[in-house]
Amino acid sequence: MEQLTVALPERAYDIVIERGLLQQVGQQCKEVLKPGCRVAVVTDGNVAIQYGSLVQASLTQAGFTAKIFLVPAGERSKSPEVLTWLWEELLGFGLTRSDAVAALGGGMVGDLAGFAAATVLRGVDFIQIPTTLLAQVDSSIGGKTGVDFDGYKNMVGAFHHPSLVYANLSTLKTLTAEQFACGMGEVLKHGLIKNASYYEWCINQMFEIQDREVEALKTMVLESMKIKKAVVEKDPTEKGERALLNLGHTVGHAIEKLQNFQMLHGQCVALGYLCAAYISWKR
Ligand code: GLY
Repeated sequence: MEQLTVALPERAYDIVIERGLLQQVGQQCKEVLKPGCRVAVVTDGNVAIQYGSLVQASLTQAGFTAKIFLVPAGERSKSPEVLTWLWEELLGFGLTRSDAVAALGGGMVGDLAGFAAATVLRGVDFIQIPTTLLAQVDSSIGGKTGVDFDGYKNMVGAFHHPSLVYANLSTLKTLTAEQFACGMGEVLKHGLIKNASYYEWCINQMFEIQDREVEALKTMVLESMKIKKAVVEKDPTEKGERALLNLGHTVGHAIEKLQNFQMLHGQCVALGYLCAAYISWKR
C-alpha cells in the first residue's frame, strides 16, 4: 500500500493506493467516516457489474449501511436532472449529516456524486473510489465537483474535497484501450507542466505502461498523483497556479460540446493539447 496526504489549509485527507481486490475499502473508510453510518455508493452500470457487490460487501463488513445508486454510464448523467434524482434517492435512503456519499467509478461519477455530497443537507462526507486512470490521477484529487449545464461542461459545481481517495491499481487492468488512453492524456500533461524527467520516463516506459505492468502503473499513478496533489495544495480553489492543470482543456471542452458529448473527455482534451502546442508554436 502507498499513501499520500493532501494538506489543505482547512484540513488534510489521504490518498491510498492499493493493488489486488477492493476488499480493504471498508477498513479504509473506517478511518475517516462515523462508525456505522450510511454510505450511499454512486456508480454506473458498467462499474457496478465489476465492483459494486465487492465494495458494498466490504463496507457492510466494516459496519456501514451501504446501498448502491446506479446512474447511466456516460457524460449525459452529469446533468441537473440526474442530480435531482440523486438528491431524492439520497434523502429516501434516510441520509443524515452524519452519513456519507461515495463515488465508485470514473470522472463523471466522481463529479456528480461529489456535487450531490456537497449540496445534499448542505454537505456530507465524501469518499472517492476512482476506477479509471483519468479519475485516479486527476479528477478524484482536488475537490472539483459539478454537473454540465445548458450544453456547457462543469457550469454548476462546488469545491468539496473528499475525506479519502481510495485507488486500486487492479481496476486499471480491465479498462478498455480507449479509456486507458484518456487517462494517459492527463498523465502526460502532468509531466509536461511540472516534471520533464517524468515525461521522459513515461516515453521510455511506453511498452510497460501499454502492457499495464503493475510496477510501471504504480510508479506512474503515484508520480502523477504527487504532481496533482502539489498543485492543489498550493492553489486549492484555482486562483492561480492550478489553472496549469487545465492545459488543453479550453479547446478540449469546446470539442466535447461541438461533438455533442459523443467523444470521451480524455480524447477531447488530448486533441486540446495538440491545439495548445500548435498555438504556442505559432506565437
Ligand atoms: N482537472 C483539473 C483540476 O482538477 O484542476
